[in-house]
Parts: sequence; C-alpha cells; structure tokens
Amino acid sequence: MKTEPGGTPLKVVSWAGNSLTILDQTRLPQQEIYIQTTDYRDVITAIKELKVRGAPAIGVAAGYAAALGALKIKAATLNVFFKEFDKVLEEIVSSRPTARNLFWAVERMRCVSCDGDNVATIKERLVNEAVAIQAKETESSTQMSVHGAALIPDNAVILTHCNTGVLATAALYGTALGVILRAAENGKNIRVIATETRPLLQGARLTTWEALRADIPVTLITDSMAGHFLSRGLVTCVIVGADRIAANGDTANKIGTYSLAVLAKENKTPFYVAAPYSTVDLSLATGKEIPIEERNSKEVTHIQGVAIAPEGCPAFNPAFDVTPHRYISAIITEKGVIRKPYGKGLKTLRQA
Ligand code: MRU
Repeated sequence: MKTEPGGTPLKVVSWAGNSLTILDQTRLPQQEIYIQTTDYRDVITAIKELKVRGAPAIGVAAGYAAALGALKIKAATLNVFFKEFDKVLEEIVSSRPTARNLFWAVERMRCVSCDGDNVATIKERLVNEAVAIQAKETESSTQMSVHGAALIPDNAVILTHCNTGVLATAALYGTALGVILRAAENGKNIRVIATETRPLLQGARLTTWEALRADIPVTLITDSMAGHFLSRGLVTCVIVGADRIAANGDTANKIGTYSLAVLAKENKTPFYVAAPYSTVDLSLATGKEIPIEERNSKEVTHIQGVAIAPEGCPAFNPAFDVTPHRYISAIITEKGVIRKPYGKGLKTLRQA
C-alpha cells in the first residue's frame, strides 16, 4: 500500500486502550491535525462536523464512541448500566442519518452488550467489539479492492466523486478509491479524474490528496465538468462509494452521484458502486426509503467560511442523493461483484 511516503498507512481512527485518536479531515489538505479523546461526545461531534466521515469510517468511529461511552458509565448493577448505555447509543445514532454503517456498528455494539453477567465484562467485550468492527472494515476494504481491481482495464481513466479512500474507511484501502489504488498497485496504468464535490469539497481536498500520496495521477474538475469529459469519451468508467444500498440496489451516495450515473448511462460508460456489505440495508425495499441528511445551508452559501452568496440567501443542502439501480453496472463488495438483478444478488451475499 503506497498511501504514505514511508509506507505507513494513514491513521484515520486509532484506538489506544482507552482513548481514541481521529485525524481531523476538515483541516486537510493544509494541516494534519489529530484529536485525541476519551469522551464519546467528542466522537459524536467529530462525526457531525465531518472531522471523521465516509460511511465505513463513521461506523468505525461510532463503535469506538459506544465503547468510550460504556467505559465512562458508573453503574453497580446491569440494569443501571443498560439504561445509561442505551442513552449513549441513542446519542450516537442521531449524529448522521444516511450512512448505514453507523447503524450497523451501533447494532453490533448493542448485541454484544446483551451478553455478559457483570458490568466489567460487558465493558471489556464492548471495547473488543469496537476493535473488531475496525478489523472487519479493514478486511472488507482490502477484499473489495481485489474484486474491484479486476474490473479495471489497463490505461483506464476513472472518474470518481467525493472521497472514498482510506480517509473514508479508516481501513487499509478505501471503497471506490481503494479499487483504484489496488488496480494501480497491480501495475495498471490508471489516471483519476476527481470531481471537487461541492459543497464540502471532499474530492478537491481529500481524494486528490490521497491519490497524490499514492503516486496516482489525478486531475481535479468541478462537478459540472463531468458531462463534458464523459460525452467526449474521455472516461473509461465511473466508480463511486455508497452510504446506503437498499434491497433492490438503489444507492444513496454523496450529492451529485445520481447526475454522474445518468451521464454515464447516456454515454455508455460503466458506472460502478463499491461498498462493504455493512452499507447494505435489506430492511429498505427501495432507495425512496433511505433517509437523506439535510445539512446547514451555510455549507452552500459559504466556502470554507467565506460567503459566496448575498447575506440571507436561502439554500438547499441535501448531503446525498439516490441513484436508481438501473443506472448501476455492478456493485463491488468484499464478498464479490454483483450485477442485475441486485435484489437477488444482495440477498444471496448476506449468507456468503
Ligand atoms: O458526507 P460524507 O463526506 O461522509 O460523504 C461520504 C460519501 O458520500 C462517500 O462517497 C461514501 O461514504 C461512500 S465511500 C466510503
């Protein structure tokens, strides 16, 4: 993995026994600042403010937040402990609504807490489970990169949206960017076109930063330029990540993904989604049921704190959109690559 000049993987979220360290992604690429905390509320704030972001990384951080919350509970009886722990979990699930991985991680933590006959044992099990969640996402992103890289031809120009690298997974590889990194590691000649990803510029700030660290040629475009490059046949394929995948394959991802999928279909360009199975939500029949986060309109009227619109101008700010499954050429997961009909494939993979 060439994500760091010295070969050391990025420490996006790291656990040290009873404290958590988070790389503050809002300060990148200018500054590499780490936040260290033993307070689960700091982790919730970091998730809300996108200091830690990207569906799998949010899940990993949520697992550690639950562990930190549990460690702080002073309870002599199991009843008191469960009451307090429930409150902690409720606070964590209210941090961001769209990424499935957050709820998946919290459910895993809730399940583990049910098994144990004293508070000390349960706390220990919760810490171990949070570590296991990160290990699982690490393994998943590595496997996903292997499956996805097989779809990428040599000399590919890959258009990607938002940031889907190690920063978004807190693992060794990313989702979509993990596939790209692996294809490059396998010796393929790859060039990346990264969309800037307004309003919060995850593509401009983070994807370019990660790609350059990995020595992968990357060119930045504004979101509205994508159609131009696709229409001229200059893009081999589009690969994006996912925040939640419904049972029929409809996929919520960063706002702007749907437009890219439509443009890709119009221009007969493969459109791939890469996501761990922890992003799949079989309880939702279609993408219409996926909750879409609406963020502060200031993120649209301002860029990094500087106003770009008249004062008081209203703005919409949905953070995600839903791409109907018919636009998706394949979904890449750690369990394998699936194609239409996604309903059947996603269900079958649950057992795999
Ligand atoms: O608002 P963000 O930055 O958390 O949104 C991230 C994305 O939309 C990513 O594309 C997504 O989480 C999938 S890849 C890890």
